Amino acid sequence: MTRHFLRDDSITPAEQAEILDLAAELKADRWREKPLAGPQTVAVIFDKSSTRTRVSFAVGIADLGGSPLIITTASSQLGGKETPADTARVLERQVSAIVWRTYAQEGLEQMAANTTVPVVNALSDDFHPCQLLADLLTIREHKGATQGLTMSFFGDGKSNMAHSYVIAGVMAGMHVRVASPADYAPRADVIADADEIAKTTGGSVTLLTDVNEAAAGADVMVTDTWVSMGKEEEKLERLRDLGGYKVTTELMQLAQPDAMFIHCLPADRGYEVDAEVIDGPQSVIWDEAENRLHAQKALLVWLLRQQAV
Ligand code: CP
Ligand code: NVA
Repeated sequence: MTRHFLRDDSITPAEQAEILDLAAELKADRWREKPLAGPQTVAVIFDKSSTRTRVSFAVGIADLGGSPLIITTASSQLGGKETPADTARVLERQVSAIVWRTYAQEGLEQMAANTTVPVVNALSDDFHPCQLLADLLTIREHKGATQGLTMSFFGDGKSNMAHSYVIAGVMAGMHVRVASPADYAPRADVIADADEIAKTTGGSVTLLTDVNEAAAGADVMVTDTWVSMGKEEEKLERLRDLGGYKVTTELMQLAQPDAMFIHCLPADRGYEVDAEVIDGPQSVIWDEAENRLHAQKALLVWLLRQQAV
């Protein structure tokens, strides 16, 4: 049966754990799995810029024996000229999976509804679930497990990253705190979904406006850009509104002494995070960036296995 990965909870908490276990195995034995031998092609489409996602999918697909076809929207018929549904029907005749970085979540849903090959969200305005697989893998590596840990996100709580931290973190049994101005709180339906998941995993989600309260005793400190792709016109307003939500050296001192700092990157040093924090000893951002490769390979292997079920 075709499974898609459009948001963090497109898989169950048990499936998330299974994919993370597989990611650790593939990190230790990089060339083990060749489900795309042939080579079979995977379309990797970008409506927005990317460095990490583009490289990690291209390298990962090649590692799995396949051939990545990188498509930029500007040079394709997507983006107003052809619907996601028609694009999906064309692609499924030739590729084994579709990976897409886009704006509206709805486009991904239309793509998935019209194809028999797996569709993967490589970042939308609402979620960045591939990043969370990498982040959870990184937390497991540095902390041994995710269950029961407190993860605190600071900044734009209604961003794709904050939404993914809330859902995927709770799925992994974590206590997720989001510190943001009230106007930048996560979407109510995302919180409702996380609360529902929390009942089965022992995790929780807490919305705060006070950064000190959010940082107190945290195991994982997280932030992201204040100006996500597509929000450039709001830049000045966002810098003003989010100015008090920077992860500073002082804020890190309120967290656990062995707290780790993560950031999906790209980062704006001096805005959402002090250079001393992101470039300091508690930061694991380079492991995190590498883990995009291992986590997404595991995801693709897992999705392709479901095709055979
Ligand atoms: N973190 C992340 O997705 O980076 P890119 O925008 O470079 O892909
Ligand atoms: N929130 C950021 C993440 C970039 C990887 C954005 O959407 O631009």
